[in-house]
Amino acid sequence: PLATTGTLVGAAADRRGAVAAFNVITLEHVEAVVAGAEAVDAPVILQISENAVRYRYGRLLPLARAAASVAEGAGVDVALHLDHVQSDDLLRQAVDAGFSSVMYDAARLPYDENLAATRAAADWGHANGLWVEAELGEVGGKDGAAPLDAHAPGARTDPGEARAYVSDAGVDALAVAIGSSHAMTTRTAALDHDLLKRLADGLDVPLVLHGSSGVPDGELTEAVRGGIAKVNVGTALNIAMTAAIREFLATHPDAVDSRKYLTVGREAMTRTVSELIGVVRG
Ligand code: G3H
Ligand code: ZN
Repeated sequence: PLATTGTLVGAAADRRGAVAAFNVITLEHVEAVVAGAEAVDAPVILQISENAVRYRYGRLLPLARAAASVAEGAGVDVALHLDHVQSDDLLRQAVDAGFSSVMYDAARLPYDENLAATRAAADWGHANGLWVEAELGEVGGKDGAAPLDAHAPGARTDPGEARAYVSDAGVDALAVAIGSSHAMTTRTAALDHDLLKRLADGLDVPLVLHGSSGVPDGELTEAVRGGIAKVNVGTALNIAMTAAIREFLATHPDAVDSRKYLTVGREAMTRTVSELIGVVRG
């Protein structure tokens, strides 16, 4: 059934585990995420990013309605989350489209502007019943950008700044920059666990890891033990889907029915979802 992100993340944090949140682009992604979660009997978050909305000709509702429908019929709890929102127009569509939460992304802005924009978004979100995640310190690799240099200013979340930011912005969860980067196609990211500990010790909101596709299993497990309660995964699904379809088409050069190759793509994503949930659920 449909659940709320706040409930799922809160329950995971209470038992020192994490809930996995997967970015979906097509209906096959949605179905695979729910099937993968059902296979291991775990709750899951379906998230649609502003980028994915752009891909869908700028329209949120077609995929959001499909996701809500699949979530309602699921055998496990499934929450809908609107991810990496920069546009206020999109933010304001979240409630009617069935989302219980949003990640408002002003991490590209200087601190004061990030804070002001995020506080306004959080105020609006709370007045409308949303759980609001924000980001401080930038997790690189967004929109095809190169990963941020680990030593570049802003490439890590500062614990002192994070305390002030969370209390001044009034957000419900914080995405932290601790060494992961978006859109990695190798699982080679090394996380700064000392920094994570300092962040977790100083904050009383759940912490979110972005760019988790590039993080090896052992690092993910340690990060969850260290206080990460929501693990965002996107690219890993696309790697699995694309590899399976590529292999299918190479071995079936005469195939034309799209269901044939989408089936193997969806199955590959389903396996990835089950595996990653097993790593992070704690
Ligand atoms: O918000 C989405 C995640 O941070 C996905 O990152 O595609 O690198 O796994 P990823
Ligand atoms: Zn992200």
